[in-house]
Amino acid sequence: MTKLWGGRFTKTAEEWVDAFGASIGFDQALVMEDIQGSIAHVTMLGKCGILTSEETEQIKAGLEKLKEKAKAGELEFSVQNEDIHLNLEKFLIDEIGPVGGKLHTGRSRNDQVATDMHLYLRNETKNIMEALRNVQQALLNQASNHVETLIPGYTHLQRAQPVSFAHHLMAYFWMLERDFGRFEDSLKRVNVSPLGAGALAGTTFPIDRAYSAELLGFDSIYENSLDAVSDRDFIVEFLSAASVTMMHLSRLCEELILWSSQEFQFIEMDDAFATGSSIMPQKKNPDMAELIRGKTGRVYGGLFSLLTTLKGLPLAYNKDMQEDKEGMFDAVHTVKGSLKIFAGMIDTMDVRTEVMEKAVHNDFSNATELADYLAAKGLPFRDAHEVVGKLVLTAINKGVFLLDLSYEDFQAAHPLFEQDIYEVLEPKTVVARRNSAGGTGFEQVKIALKKAASILENE
Ligand code: ARG
Repeated sequence: MTKLWGGRFTKTAEEWVDAFGASIGFDQALVMEDIQGSIAHVTMLGKCGILTSEETEQIKAGLEKLKEKAKAGELEFSVQNEDIHLNLEKFLIDEIGPVGGKLHTGRSRNDQVATDMHLYLRNETKNIMEALRNVQQALLNQASNHVETLIPGYTHLQRAQPVSFAHHLMAYFWMLERDFGRFEDSLKRVNVSPLGAGALAGTTFPIDRAYSAELLGFDSIYENSLDAVSDRDFIVEFLSAASVTMMHLSRLCEELILWSSQEFQFIEMDDAFATGSSIMPQKKNPDMAELIRGKTGRVYGGLFSLLTTLKGLPLAYNKDMQEDKEGMFDAVHTVKGSLKIFAGMIDTMDVRTEVMEKAVHNDFSNATELADYLAAKGLPFRDAHEVVGKLVLTAINKGVFLLDLSYEDFQAAHPLFEQDIYEVLEPKTVVARRNSAGGTGFEQVKIALKKAASILENE
């Protein structure tokens, strides 16, 4: 089989060498984008009088036919034709004859592949943004049911201060909100057309780049032809936003895994998102959460791999850049899959409020209240801290918690303590009183839920 670029060659490569260099195994995922880009390109060639209208129509009809065949899964890609671009060009020529060879006028695979990737990422970024919204909605729904459900809040994984469970869940809502913003912002740079940059230097044909860009729905064109075909920063940006999103998901996964353990028992995963053990009949494993946590590394890997691929490359296109694809495809699938699973896990998890309730009553996470109490009555906070530290020690020695201490114990610790101390120490009061902006106080949480709801409604 002769190559589309075989003119200056006297010998063909061996099959296994072709196979090593080919990208068709993975870049066939760009089939629709490649056809879309070609239709825009040939339409532009026709409009600029570079091809006759008859040629243009013939090529367009051929491309439409290929689109149908691609949809029906009828295209048989071959490694001999290296990549999606050459495979499609070959199919086109087979379909409509030698006139198909005019499609590549004023174009190179270098601007072609960059165009495909921009189209692909524009589409998938939007899909991911939609999936992010679904997870945010699931978080908001759960949070709305649990404004007054309390859990211990932790620092150093030691109980610190009780918080509203809604507040804890909503922390992730806001992380994902920033992730959404990162993807949204990246679209500005994704939605730029490299088409018409040619191999690297532009073309001698009187093309109209703005027109093909407009046909493809791009907002603008790359200003510099070398930059247009060489840079992959839009993919780096995507992988970076994807990595941050996975990092966020992974942290919540870690919490879901902890919370479903025998030690916490704060939640139970729905059967649909858990698995059993082949040997231990009692087990119910939060596999999906573990898997998402695990997959996070793959997405980071894609980011690092691409950054490393690019760092030593001279302008303009180098074959190394073919390595930009697999990591990107993998990240797209991983992030989309993870977000979809996530929305389901959050929606269906069983929140064991009675266990959480017990937990917040069986610890010293209300100790800060005592220190604040004394400080509010004029004692320097540092001294108050010391007094309460001793009181905690008294309780530990007696094997009780602060609420179990007698009034005499409090009085002995400091005369500023009065009867109202018992009310102050109630976990509900502890949480309710943290009414500073963005705090866990119930009023603040309700304000946050409203804000979050309006963000999702305004979509
Ligand atoms: N398959 C190639 C890639 O993905 C397409 C561009 C090839 N360009 C070239 N000059 N060999 O990077």
